[in-house]
Order: sequence, then C-alpha cells, then structure tokens
Amino acid sequence: MDRLDTEIAETPVSGREAPEQATSAAPSRKVFVKTYGCQMNVYDSERMSDALSRDGYTATDSPEDADLVLINTCHIREKAAEKVYSQLGRLAKLKKRRQSEGSDFMVAVAGCVAQAEGQEITRRAPVVDVVIGPQTYHRLPDALAKARTGAKVVETDFPVEDKFTALPKAPEKVIRKRGVSAFLTVQEGCDKFCTFCVVPYTRGAETSRPVDAIVAEAERLAAAGVREVTLLGQNVNAWHGEGSDGREWGLGELLRRLAEIDGLERLRYTTSHPRDMDDGLIEAHRDLPELMPYLHLPVQAGSDRILKAMNRRHTADDYIRLVERIRQANPDLALSGDFIVGFPGETDEDFEDTMRLIETVGYAQAFSFKYSPRPGTPGADLGGHVDEAVKSERLDRLQALLYRQQRDFAERCVGREIDLLLEKPGREPGQLIGRSPWLQPVIVNAKPEEIGDIVKVRITKAGTNSLFADRV
Ligand code: 5AD
Ligand code: SF4
Repeated sequence: MDRLDTEIAETPVSGREAPEQATSAAPSRKVFVKTYGCQMNVYDSERMSDALSRDGYTATDSPEDADLVLINTCHIREKAAEKVYSQLGRLAKLKKRRQSEGSDFMVAVAGCVAQAEGQEITRRAPVVDVVIGPQTYHRLPDALAKARTGAKVVETDFPVEDKFTALPKAPEKVIRKRGVSAFLTVQEGCDKFCTFCVVPYTRGAETSRPVDAIVAEAERLAAAGVREVTLLGQNVNAWHGEGSDGREWGLGELLRRLAEIDGLERLRYTTSHPRDMDDGLIEAHRDLPELMPYLHLPVQAGSDRILKAMNRRHTADDYIRLVERIRQANPDLALSGDFIVGFPGETDEDFEDTMRLIETVGYAQAFSFKYSPRPGTPGADLGGHVDEAVKSERLDRLQALLYRQQRDFAERCVGREIDLLLEKPGREPGQLIGRSPWLQPVIVNAKPEEIGDIVKVRITKAGTNSLFADRV
C-alpha cells in the first residue's frame, strides 16, 4: 500500500458530506466523523456515512451536537494508538453531557487501530461502544443497534462476505456534494509483508473487487458529475480480475475500460508496488490520455542490503530500470515516492545509497518518515536500532533534497500550458483551485459555476505549495 497512510494524515473529513436523507421510519441523529490516515480511510469513512444514513444519521461538523462520534483510525506509524486513547479520554465528558441532554450518544472506533487493538479498546476506554475493523464496517449500523441495548460490540474478524456488496450506494446528491474528484477502492489488503509494515495484519490478505462492481460504481460517480476518479488499493497495481472478454485483466486493462466511461475525464491510482508494475500498466501510461502522468511508486530505501531486510523483493537497480521503462512509455510522467530512514541496521553508507537513488530518479513529490517499530511486525524484533538523533539528521538531509527536487519540478512547470480540472473555491473570491496533471494544486481566476470544467491554463508562477495560472 505504501503511501496510503501518509498523504493526508490527520485530515478530518467530518462534515464534508451530508449522508442520504433519513428514511421516514428512522429517527434523526447526527454523526461526527473524524478520519485519520490514508485516502482509503477517507473512502471508508464515506461508505460508513452512506451506511449510517440509512439509520437516519446526517453529518455534523461538531462533536458537541453529535449523537455518534466515529473515529476512523490509522496505525501505520508511531503512537497512533496512544493518540486515539487520549482522544477517547476527552470524549467521556461529552458522552455524559449528551446523554443528560437525552441523546443516545455513542462512540465508535473504526480503522486499523480498531483492527489491531480490538477488545483492548473497550477495556481501556469504556466510553467506546463499538469497535469495528476495516473489513467489517458494513455491519456498523447493526453493531450500533446492538450497542444501544447496552452491549459493547467488537467486530474485527475478516468475514467472507463482501462488504462492498453489503453497503448501500451513495445517492446522487451525496456524490455531487463530495465533489468532482472521487476515490474508488478497487483493491484491499496486502500479501507483500514488508518487514516494517502493519498493513498485512490490519487490512488482511490481498483482494481485488470484480470488474463489474468497479465499472458500475465508476458509472454512478460519472453520472453524478464526477470527472476524476482515483482508484485506491493498498497494493493497487496488484489488482486483477476477470475482464468482460473472459481474460484475466490487470490494472492497465481496467483503466482502459474505465477510460471509456462518458464524463470520466481523468484517472489516477495509488499506491503501487514496484514488483507489480506490469507491461499492461506501463502501456496504459503510454496510450491513455485519461490516465494522468503521475505515479506514486514508493521505494523506501536505496541500499540493497536494507531493501532486503525490508523484504521489498527488488534491488535499487531494479527500481531505477523500472522507472526508465515507465519514462520511456510516457516521458512526461512525474514520480512520487515514500522513504523510510533509520530502518534497523541502516549505516551511513546505506543512507548515502538512498540519497544517490533520489538524485538518480528525481522526484516531483515525496513522503518520508523515520522508521518506527510497529508491534507484531518482523522489523520490530530486529537488532541494530538507529539512534533517534541520527534518524532526525538523516531525515533532515533527505527532506532537503526531496524538497529541492519538488521545487525544481514546480519551476519547470512554469510557462507550460495544461488542462486543469476546476475542483473547489480558492481562498480569495473569484479564484478556483484545481489539480495539475501532476497533482499539484493550481490557483486560477474562475467562476464558481465552472467547478467541474476542464479548462486550458498557462502556469505563471510556482508558490510554496501550489502553482498559479492564467486562463488561455
Ligand atoms: N515506520 C516508518 N514509516 C513507515 N511506513 C510504513 N510503515 C512504517 C514504519 N513502521 C511508511 C512507508 C509507507 C508509508 C505509507 O508509510 O514509507 O510507504
Ligand atoms: Fe505497502 Fe509493503 Fe505495507 Fe504491503 S507490506 S502495504 S507493500 S509497505
């Protein structure tokens, strides 16, 4: 999965959407959703909101007037569980107050911390009524109903039924509210077992959703005004399924099929593993104008010794050659990556190998972290712990280099003419924000009713985190 649990770390999506109107029989209740971690969690939170809307829940921006606080957690790096516990501690008072006001106030914990901690959560934080894992959240409404009878409900198994089939579809007006760029989970879980990573334990074994279900969901999104879809998976390029021609399809074929959908103008996918970049996917980058020229392809480290200890199953050279092949297929493609510094046993030389790899590849965007041992992963038992001060020093140097590359890339964009999908209002009135093909935010003068349009602009300036452009 790689980047998934980093990009929008700790970005709440609460209140972003108002779930389906209450059904006539269901009482009206409010849910405050707080989402941590990856895009997959954002998608899961939306689907949980859809499921809750059947029970009459509508979204609220404030926990203070909520009847349900749902925390969708991330376990990828340090102290995630501790942060959740301290947040839960603060909710105890609110629960008392809301109950005294007559609300059947409940607290539910979902996501990877829920999966990893299970019953421990209700033991340590009695304020919690429901603990629900990433593979069982379609059962959230039932779990809440059970909890209303006073029971503590912990649902963290890996059921055989398909949660996607069990979940209600988001109504058109909800999709419209969520915006013109949408996520769509096509793959879940991971069988790679990188030695630093909890994902294979919290998200379970690798599974792919069937072509038909994905196409139907993408068509619904497009019919409700979505212009850009980002396919999600912890190991998205390991996706495979039986195609309409009866053959086994890979992600490249799936992207070709989705590109045929009317109204869907842009496709992206994340996160990929180098081992699963097959020819079909590389050719899709060569052939499909709808497929944006941006690829998040984490390498984690540039030393073969460390890559081996991480169980990444490729060398630095394999990665560099793969990048060359992808760039041959699409010379305009921008690369992004994830890096870990201070994995157990990492020497100064190993670290210099990583710096060299970054110089060789050249990244437009990157995410980098100090290694943090995750309980239950093989990495946590390795010797050769790297001193925190050394980790910090390495991370500073690595980030300075990556930041320089990101700036250089942005500067090289200045003067280019691009198609921009206008997504949302900018900070200043009269401005809209969109994303460049390479995922940078771009600010341009445009009218609110142009949201959803794809317009031609010329990039005029590179700011710290975004680009500025003029209409052409
Ligand atoms: N320590 C530090 N970083 C980690 N990541 C995953 N697990 C760990 C860990 N134990 C990083 C990897 C991954 C990204 C999502 O988070 O770089 O690609
Ligand atoms: Fe990604 Fe490796 Fe974790 Fe799988 S085990 S999600 S490939 S980092």
